[in-house]
Amino acid sequence: MILVTGGAGFIGGNFVLDWLAESDEAIVNLDALTYAGNLETLATLDGDRRHIFVHGDIRDRTLLDRLLATHRPRAIIHFAAESHVDRSIHGPEEFIRTNIEGTFILLEAARAYWDGLDAADRAAFRFHHVSTDEVYGSLAADDPPFTESHPNKPNSPYSASKAASDHLVRAWFHTYGLPVLTTHCSNNYGPFHFPEKLIPLTIVRALAGQPLPVYGDGMNVRDWLYVGDHCAAIRTTLERGTPGETYNIGGWNEQTNIDIVRAVCALLDELRPDPAGPRARLIGFVTDRPGHDRRYAIDARKIERELGWRPAETFATGIRKTVEWYLENPGWVANVQSGAYRDWVSRQYGASA
Ligand code: NAD
Ligand code: DAU
Repeated sequence: MILVTGGAGFIGGNFVLDWLAESDEAIVNLDALTYAGNLETLATLDGDRRHIFVHGDIRDRTLLDRLLATHRPRAIIHFAAESHVDRSIHGPEEFIRTNIEGTFILLEAARAYWDGLDAADRAAFRFHHVSTDEVYGSLAADDPPFTESHPNKPNSPYSASKAASDHLVRAWFHTYGLPVLTTHCSNNYGPFHFPEKLIPLTIVRALAGQPLPVYGDGMNVRDWLYVGDHCAAIRTTLERGTPGETYNIGGWNEQTNIDIVRAVCALLDELRPDPAGPRARLIGFVTDRPGHDRRYAIDARKIERELGWRPAETFATGIRKTVEWYLENPGWVANVQSGAYRDWVSRQYGASA
């Protein structure tokens, strides 16, 4: 049994689905169901006894102690976070509360539980912290990609809060010996991605014939990875990673934002032509994000060399799967936008859920 936090979000949800498709090892899934958490992502697991969903907060130490004592997981995979840079600019407090304080409380609960295990279980236990490439800061056009030894230079409240949580995780390894793993992944895309982030936002708005906002000059660069490849990298790291080490995960796929938006428009035009004309007509340049990092790029050679992980999807195959998924799942999109899924949660788990 493993304990996953944030498993109703984009990456955590994909991780839970992929894990249970490949293994019979059960998952306790702890998620606070913030605006970004959506149980409909996990609807195919309804009635599956291998998936135990717990609606709760990683800052609830009593709940954490009870879950750990009851389910006795061999690993914790920590996805739960506030994850959207723009929201962190408008309201940083929740990022400090969940990403820093929440990770601290989870680490303390994990340490107390781990301290009580017998020697073999202590040695096998893992705390896997899911972090981001944004902690490294921004690259100039001709800088080499981020390696694991790149200094931390976070620039947004989001990335600063993630960097702070990384440091806590590191300290719990060095001070207490808690067997931690930290992975730093680049931008993910794929099914179940909340339509506040660039790719799903572009798909959803383009289908609705709405303007497609591109920040600044559209020349900021991100390194895009299909979410299923990120989930596979986490499974590989959990299985073969060395405690205390950090691993970068990326797709070797740097692209400017404007190219991403144009690629999505072209795919939509191919798969569902718009009688009004090519969707690229909807693209508009808008005021830039404050402190907008210019370029991220991941050097993923360490995880490739030491753990044997490589992405299975190219951008061409991954973005096609993604666009097709959004075309086939308009109900999921409508529900996350309307908030109807929250009503479903109250019906399913009671008014206090
Ligand atoms: P997301 O915002 O889609 O999901 C976050 C999940 O965490 C939601 O289900 C939410 O309900 C839950 N959550 C938030 N606060 C909580 C709390 N206090 N207690 C319990 N649950 C809580 O995020 P995502 O994009 O799936 O990212 C998951 C993790 O991966 C994050 O740690 C993020 O920093 C990291 N990451 C994301 C990307 C990316 O491109 N999305 C890339 C690299 C790393
Ligand atoms: O690099 C990993 C990070 O990727 C994760 O740690 C974050 O959780 C995740 O949200 C993502 O952060 P970004 O800020 O890179 O993702 P976002 O989709 O918000 O933006 C991608 C790029 O697109 C960025 O340069 C800003 C730009 N953008 C975004 C939006 C929402 C636009 O031009 N227009 C938009 O409307």
